Amino acid sequence: MATDIKHPAWLPRAFRPTPSLLRQSRAFTRSVLGADLDKALRIPGWLHADQAALLCYVAGICPDGPIVEIGSFKGKSTVFLAKGMKATNKLYAIDPHIFTKIGSRQDRAAAKHSDNGSDSGETSWSTFNSTLETWVITDKVNIIRKFSYDARADFDNAIAMLWIDGDHAYDAVRKDIEDWVPLTMPNGFVAFHDTHPKHLGYPGGSVLSAIKDSGMLDSGDFESFLQLRNAWILRRVPK
Ligand SMILES: C[S@@+](CC[C@H](N)C(=O)[O-])C[C@H]1O[C@@H](n2cnc3c(N)ncnc32)[C@H](O)[C@@H]1O
Repeated sequence: MATDIKHPAWLPRAFRPTPSLLRQSRAFTRSVLGADLDKALRIPGWLHADQAALLCYVAGICPDGPIVEIGSFKGKSTVFLAKGMKATNKLYAIDPHIFTKIGSRQDRAAAKHSDNGSDSGETSWSTFNSTLETWVITDKVNIIRKFSYDARADFDNAIAMLWIDGDHAYDAVRKDIEDWVPLTMPNGFVAFHDTHPKHLGYPGGSVLSAIKDSGMLDSGDFESFLQLRNAWILRRVPK
């Protein structure tokens, strides 16, 4: 298995060999999406092609059960997850779809005073829905239009794959880890986006710091499945 030890994230990309898992992921994603791959990669969002491929592949190899996405935006990662997963998985896409600028402080402040159900046309909500229709995945996705911390109370199933790409502030990531990671099943996956140490100018990289400080790496419950510079996938080891 490729790990961050064999393919350290600190090494410039040009000097790192392509991990075999990444090659497999690219091949799997090409086989699933075929000629539509380029079109899927053009869905608005921040997901790099290799990150999208990894998500698609891991959705295809994770255990049966729910796949939970925290942070859908306009549906780019939703499409790669839904296209990769098996019929025995169901995707739960959690996002309040109220922000006009991703994670901006102004939006967060405004959200506190807004009606979560409103759709000004400027948020990700309408585009997200048309993305699901365009890619014919509406039936595979349970939309949960809430913040992850509010959605948690209604969810207590064991999770086969958890994709955390919502609020990237340190405290928010810690909260998502605390709320959702314990639900992952043995051999289930936890994937994080924006794990680059310099991500978005947050000192120290808020997502990376939150993962490290959460204790999940030291718990012995998780192994690194594949770490790219800006995405990290861990797998819960069987007891
Ligand atoms: C970086 S975008 C997600 C990008 C998406 N995964 C993609 O591939 O294009 C972050 C999203 O998280 C949502 N978000 C912010 N805080 C959240 C929270 N606490 N729970 C769920 N979603 C959240 C925002 O509304 C935004 O759409």
